[in-house]
Amino acid sequence: MTHVRLVKNGPLMISGPVEVEMPDGDIVESDRVMVALCMCRRSKTYPFCDTSHRKRS
Ligand code: FES
Repeated sequence: MTHVRLVKNGPLMISGPVEVEMPDGDIVESDRVMVALCMCRRSKTYPFCDTSHRKRS
C-alpha cells in the first residue's frame, strides 16, 4: 500500500518513485525514495516542492 502524508501548510509526501501526470498530459517522474509534491503552487519546480511554501507571500 502506498503511504501518503500531508504536511500542514506544506507538501504532500509520498513514497517514490512516482510518475505524475500533469493537467496537459505531460508525465514527470521522480525516483527519490520520498517525494514532496507541492500543494501551494508556489514551487519553481512544480509539481515538486522546493520549500517555497515556507516563504511569506
Ligand atoms: S508545498 Fe512546498 S513549495 Fe509548495
